[in-house]
Amino acid sequence: MKAYRASILWFAPPAEGPARALFEEDGLLVVGPNGAGTQLVQAVGSWAALSPSYPGIAVEHWPGRILAPGFVDLHVHYPQVDVIGSPADGLLPWLERYTFPEENRFSAPEYADDVATFFIAELLRNGVTTALAFATSHLASVDALFTQAQAHHVRLITGLCLMDRHAPASLLNQAQGGVDATTQSLIDTEALIQRWNGVDRLGYAITPRFAPSCTEAQLRGAGELAARYPDVWIQSHVAENQDEIAWARALFPQSRSYLATYDDFGLMRKRAIYAHCIHFDDSDRALMRDTGTAAAVCPTSNLFLGSGFFDYAGADRIGFRYGLASDVGGGTSFSPFHTMLAAYYAGREGQTKQGLSLSPQHLWWQHTVGAAAALGLDAVVGNLLPGCEADFVELNPQATPLLARRTARATNLDELLFALIVLGDDRVVERTVVSTIGPQPGVETP
Ligand code: GUN
Ligand code: ZN
Repeated sequence: MKAYRASILWFAPPAEGPARALFEEDGLLVVGPNGAGTQLVQAVGSWAALSPSYPGIAVEHWPGRILAPGFVDLHVHYPQVDVIGSPADGLLPWLERYTFPEENRFSAPEYADDVATFFIAELLRNGVTTALAFATSHLASVDALFTQAQAHHVRLITGLCLMDRHAPASLLNQAQGGVDATTQSLIDTEALIQRWNGVDRLGYAITPRFAPSCTEAQLRGAGELAARYPDVWIQSHVAENQDEIAWARALFPQSRSYLATYDDFGLMRKRAIYAHCIHFDDSDRALMRDTGTAAAVCPTSNLFLGSGFFDYAGADRIGFRYGLASDVGGGTSFSPFHTMLAAYYAGREGQTKQGLSLSPQHLWWQHTVGAAAALGLDAVVGNLLPGCEADFVELNPQATPLLARRTARATNLDELLFALIVLGDDRVVERTVVSTIGPQPGVETP
């Protein structure tokens, strides 16, 4: 067992109401292995109250630093690292002009390995320890990302991108050995589930890119796999952009709405995460709630591509789950601080009419506990309650001269968190610690 002494930020159990942050100025976080070698939080609280219970324990003391849960990125595209900041009129021209050509390069396994290595390092540098990520339609892109995540003990969920129409031919799922492309994509998906799902900290997500890129047969097959493997995740996009919505409605006119198309193919259930969810009506919101489906809110992407604003008031009124996501490369930053700030701007813009705005505790919750709950992993990651995996960040509230001035003036937790959200970025994250499973590479075990 080992302990860390510093200021500590964590969250009350969800049963005690949403988004209530807890903070100990002089705190102690005790971590230790479970039987399988995973480091779990054993205790969290004040140094004065807890330290007598752990005599002789090794303590790392980080005065002036804040320990907080590792961030959870609920939707990010690893093949879009080099697409960030590509301007376009909107989603569909952006996909065609920049994103599809870049994703095409991932047919080369060395290229995929190279970007996957950068991507995992960049997540950790920014304090992200769990991510639900898109790969490309190339098998090697999925293996490359899982391999890198496994090596660095990141909790990562990804899957083969299903797209059997409406993209450049070389980016579509490919036929193989007399098997048509659609069938092959589903065979590959099942083989990847069996190879990776539940291995160490890895999970598989059935990944239809979005309804317009999939034939009915592909969506139906994906839904059948989702029923056969209820513990795997599902990820896709929905209701992001008006042109996209019109296209999806034209392709699947029999469904009540764009969102309902996914339900009609068995793709809405717990552990299903849909990115954007902007242009919803209340029937869509009720469908999210009733199926246990969650939304990945992508504010930097929605602002950059001009897609619109997630309706927080609508989501809370009907009551479905959501969490924050970078959506790199439509999104503009890996930094959870930038994403939380953009969510604040978007929340203000979208909700001034209802007189609502987002508190800093709620913004932080959306990128930790809220996102973990959306994945069905709230007892596992995104918090520092006893029993959670010990994924955490060490934050320096004095990382820049301006932050040092501003955080020194904070008189309560909300002011401190807001200063970090508004002025913070990767410079604030001094260290990212991930819970390990099994022996660390290169480290001797006793
Ligand atoms: N819809 C379908 N594919 C994509 C993508 O790569 N990014 C975003 N933002 N929306 C999508
Ligand atoms: Zn996306």
